[in-house]
Amino acid sequence: MRVLGIETSCDETGVAIYDEALGLMSHKLYSQVKLHADYGGVVPELASRDHVRKLLPLINQAMAEANCQPSDINGIAFTKGPGLVGALLVGSSVARSLAYAWKVPAVGVHHMEGHLLAPMLDEPAPEFPFVALLVSGGHSMLVSVKGIGSYEILGESVDDAAGEAFDKTAKLLGLDYPGGPLLAKLADSGEAGHYQFPRPMTDRPGLDFSFSGLKTFAANTIRAANDDPQTRANIAYAFQEAVVDTLVIKCRRALKLTGLKRLVIAGGVSANKQLRESLQEMMVKMQGEVFYPRMEFCTDNGAMIAYAGLQRLCAGEREPLSTKAQPRWPL
Ligand code: KG4
Ligand code: ZN
Repeated sequence: MRVLGIETSCDETGVAIYDEALGLMSHKLYSQVKLHADYGGVVPELASRDHVRKLLPLINQAMAEANCQPSDINGIAFTKGPGLVGALLVGSSVARSLAYAWKVPAVGVHHMEGHLLAPMLDEPAPEFPFVALLVSGGHSMLVSVKGIGSYEILGESVDDAAGEAFDKTAKLLGLDYPGGPLLAKLADSGEAGHYQFPRPMTDRPGLDFSFSGLKTFAANTIRAANDDPQTRANIAYAFQEAVVDTLVIKCRRALKLTGLKRLVIAGGVSANKQLRESLQEMMVKMQGEVFYPRMEFCTDNGAMIAYAGLQRLCAGEREPLSTKAQPRWPL
């Protein structure tokens, strides 16, 4: 089976072709980051309009790169939710219409399931069961994964997502949108020991997260500090250290609770170098293994949707013609 995957939940237009036997045949990504940069965040209306402009040309490119004709495609997967409703509608209507025209089945994929399965795009792929830490701009959650579609949420953020906290704190530090990777870069030139940020909700049992307090703590710290570049880098360092420490503590707890030794991290924040290194260190101590997607598949992309869609189509799932986007959709 060969699947065309389409991702349009936020500000990236992603298209990919995944073949059950051959693996990933092509993937194309168009990022709208520049379009939204002046506004300091994603403008939903602009995002939808840009997906309309970019999606079909990107599908053409992905088909050409994989040397595919429409008759070579056996199914179409698209991100059905969660995400920005207008943006989702572009992907779902194009995907459903193409599937109708090409007489192949379509399937709507949960965006976070796409992230969760992204490490499977490379070898060695993690085996089930495992604990997954999903950290993106919209979600932070720990999930016990027994198989495709068998997900138990162990904990999630009660307020801001980890990526959202990175982006908001980056903004306070005067960095452009999306600030997560820029804050991480600034933190590289920061020194340890100048600031101590809290590790929210680690002093009580449970696996939920709370990141909005860190942003407030950052705002107060920045207000009271000098405006020189080294001070800003030190604040970025302390903020990142606090987020990473918090995530490491909760992952360790989740592994102990479930008795599992396999950890998968995915979603935009899984691109964070410090987080990867710290979790790697923790897993060595626990004599377990940690899996991440390759860098380009940490953030939103079409490959993860094509892969997740293939699994769902093989399990017999089909999207009816009267499809709908699902901007809110629990995993
Ligand atoms: O998964 P994703 O592309 O989109 C959502 O589904 O939300 O995640 C984007 C988020 C943004 O908040 C971005 O700032 C964050 O991931 N991010 C990072 C890094 N790269 C992306 N945060 C921290 N460090 C990074 N290196
Ligand atoms: Zn995402």
